[in-house]
Amino acid sequence: MTFSKGLAGVVADTTQISQVQGEDGRLIYRGISIDELANQSSFEEVSYFLLKGKLPNPSELSSWTDKLKKYRKLDSDVEKALLSLPTDMHPMVALQALLAVLIHKEKPAQLKDKEAHIETSAFLISQLATLIAQVSRRRRGLPLLPVKDSLSHTSHFLYLLQGKDPDTKIAHFFDVAMILHMDHDFNASTFAARVIASTEAHLTSAISGAIGALSGPLHGGANERVLDMADAIKSPDKASAWILETLQKKGKVMGFGHRVYRTLDPRAKILKEILDTLAKDSKTQDVTFDILKKVHDTMIEELSKKEKDYIWPNVDFWSGSFYRNIGIEKIDFTPLFALARVVGWSSHVIEMWEDNRIYRPAAEYVGPDHVPYAKVK
Ligand SMILES: CC(C)(COP(=O)(O)OP(=O)(O)OC[C@H]1O[C@@H](n2cnc3c(N)ncnc32)[C@H](O)[C@@H]1OP(=O)(O)O)[C@@H](O)C(=O)NCCC(=O)NCCS
Repeated sequence: MTFSKGLAGVVADTTQISQVQGEDGRLIYRGISIDELANQSSFEEVSYFLLKGKLPNPSELSSWTDKLKKYRKLDSDVEKALLSLPTDMHPMVALQALLAVLIHKEKPAQLKDKEAHIETSAFLISQLATLIAQVSRRRRGLPLLPVKDSLSHTSHFLYLLQGKDPDTKIAHFFDVAMILHMDHDFNASTFAARVIASTEAHLTSAISGAIGALSGPLHGGANERVLDMADAIKSPDKASAWILETLQKKGKVMGFGHRVYRTLDPRAKILKEILDTLAKDSKTQDVTFDILKKVHDTMIEELSKKEKDYIWPNVDFWSGSFYRNIGIEKIDFTPLFALARVVGWSSHVIEMWEDNRIYRPAAEYVGPDHVPYAKVK
């Protein structure tokens, strides 16, 4: 048996869903480069592609889009559960609580009944979007908004969150950001979903567990911490000194570095292009983006001096800046990750169930043995 802390370097299963090509800075979904999908596709098309394993034809895309719309509305018991939660509950915890209510709505299906699981996935993708938006509205003291039948999946989410139809360009950029976050091979939350599903638990339980795994700062929360850093720096002219001091103290700069990418994260490149376009179009200064550009330039310069040119910005470096630019609060950033990643989680579970084996790694026991039992007297 081999021992690998955190399972680093351990191949736990095969997958055809996505691959991170760290040396080349590429991410592929079922063989297609993320750049191509981000430029030319839509949330609906990519979600269909990841779940079903083939790109949809026009009529398949249209019925998939309708299916996602059909599942937008929350049942009254789910809405009641939502309204019973404390308004200051962290949204990720609220989502886990509400998914527990959704579990009994999952129709029983044979493990290999792929179509039934895809139907459940469509339900979860849509319900999660509505829940994320409504939980956010409630926290902000706003009334829940009725869902509507118009708009694409991600535009409708922005409509629910912000109470108005989104600007077309912003809606497109947000759709791209969601495509970029849909899957990333065996990351921690996907692995958590797979472990839960390997026991043949409900798909909804696997998604709920994945949300729990995503909520931790080492996984879903890094973009919030990038904005904390930008807020602490306060203005672009203070960025270089702040970074030099952080590096001198051997501190980590949030949003830089990655376990697998040894060059620029392709998702970071696309998000930076989006931010550049927004900055060009805008009449007002985006201070967060200006600070992060300075942080970026200082980091690249300093890391090249230290011969650490394998450390580059990751997706989290720019994503928070984009979400803030379009008016989304920091506390809702990790739920946005779930809004997209639910597609990847479901796809992995469905793929795994085609040839399932329960996950059961071994542990190296390092405790004592033959300890005499002393009865409490
Ligand atoms: C993502 C991360 C955990 C990857 O870790 P890793 O592959 O194990 O990289 P290491 O921690 O081994 O780093 C190698 C070297 O680069 C340095 N380094 C790595 N990331 C750095 C960062 N963000 N800022 C400054 N230095 C960094 C390390 O200090 C280390 O230096 P040393 O060799 O002098 O000790 C790490 O880069 C990190 O903590 N980044 C910041 C958090 C973040 O953005 N997380 C989101 C990831 S998607």
